[in-house]
Parts: sequence; C-alpha cells; structure tokens
Amino acid sequence: MNKKGFIFDLDGVIVDTAKYHFLAWKKLANDLGIDFTEDQNEQLKGVSRVKSLEKILNWGGVSISEEEFNQLMDKKNQDYLSYIETMTKDEILVDVPKVLDLLKDENQGVALGSASKNARTILKKVALYDTFDAIVDGTNVSKAKPDPEVFMIAAKNLDIQPEHCIVFEDSIAGIQAANAANMVSIGIGEEDVLSEADFVFQDFTEITTEFITQLINKH
Ligand code: BG6
Ligand code: MG
Repeated sequence: MNKKGFIFDLDGVIVDTAKYHFLAWKKLANDLGIDFTEDQNEQLKGVSRVKSLEKILNWGGVSISEEEFNQLMDKKNQDYLSYIETMTKDEILVDVPKVLDLLKDENQGVALGSASKNARTILKKVALYDTFDAIVDGTNVSKAKPDPEVFMIAAKNLDIQPEHCIVFEDSIAGIQAANAANMVSIGIGEEDVLSEADFVFQDFTEITTEFITQLINKH
C-alpha cells in the first residue's frame, strides 16, 4: 500500500522552539545553583515537562517539596510562553513546508506527535494547525517519550499500521520512541547525537523528493 503515515515532532523539527526550552530550563537550573550544559539539554529534548524538572533536580542533587516543584514547572512554562508569544510562520524551519506540501500532494497521512502541552498553541501561531490529519500532544498521552505511546496513538488516529509510519525527530528520546513503535526513525540534527536513528539529516533542505518517494513506495 502506498499510503504511509508521516509523524512530525514539533519542537526542533517544525519550529526552532528547542532553543526556547533550553533558555527557560537553563535559567531555572542556574537560579537553583545548578549547572546546565548542552549535553544535559540533549537529554531533555523530547522529554515531558515533569520528567525534565525531575532530571535537573537530580543532576543538582536538589530536593524540594511538591508545592515548590509545581511552582517551578509553572515558572518555567511562563518563561517559555513569553518566548513563543510573538512567534509567526517565519519561524517554521527551512524546507519543512516543502516536505509537508509534497506529502499532501501525494495523499499521505500527516500527523503531529509532540510531548508538548503547548503544541496546539504553537501550531496556531505558525498557521499549521489545519495541516495535520491528526494531532497528538502532551495533553493526549500518559507516558512520555522514549515510550512509544505518542506515536502509536498518532498511527491509530491516522488509521495506518505502525510499521507503515515514518517519524521525524530531533531528540534521542523521540528516536528511541519511534524505534520502539517499530516505525522508520529519521533524525533531524547531528549524526553523532542521533546515532540510533535509521536516517539522519542536518535539516529538511537535505531531504529530497526522491527520498520521500522511496519511503512512500517501500513495502
Ligand atoms: C518537547 C520538548 O517537545 O516538549 C521538551 O522537546 C519539552 O523540551 C516537552 O520539555 C514538553 O513541553 P511543554 O511545552 O509541555 O513544556
Ligand atoms: Mg523535539
């Protein structure tokens, strides 16, 4: 069958919001007296807000009450929301629309599979909300990436078998989730970071029409 499901992560794949998550987490960590490196940031990509804060506190050996935990989560999100407030479609990453248009022209299933509870807000800001046949985000899942739940629900909503789905991801956790779901995993970013992916591209400029056509026609 030549109808495949193409599932896109949002942050760091469609828009460059990964940098805003980084800035917000770094500020929070530093305010708590905890160092926050680029390497640690890679480990937070794709990871839910709760899990991210747990990891940061763990790295810093800091323990806090549940009330403080909730306050910090809220603070991080307020900070993050202030960054995304002014987003427009100019912040869609280069050549993402080219690939989305091609998939639409070829009548492929197109879904969003994001850990973010802000995903729908962002899609509306960048005028992509109506592009997806299915949207699954942090409000629809109970298990965070690397658990495959988010992608399994996306496949189900597209009505396409997981083995006929292809995932675009910029995070290690997301690639592991796609692999666990038995889907083709395509890393967007650095090859050494995303070494578990089936394919890795620096960005969508490197993804050719031929490559997409091969994925569509693959058995
Ligand atoms: C993922 C990001 O897409 O969403 C993570 O890569 C983020 O960095 C996670 O923590 C949850 O996002 P939000 O917007 O619900 O805090
Ligand atoms: Mg991402």
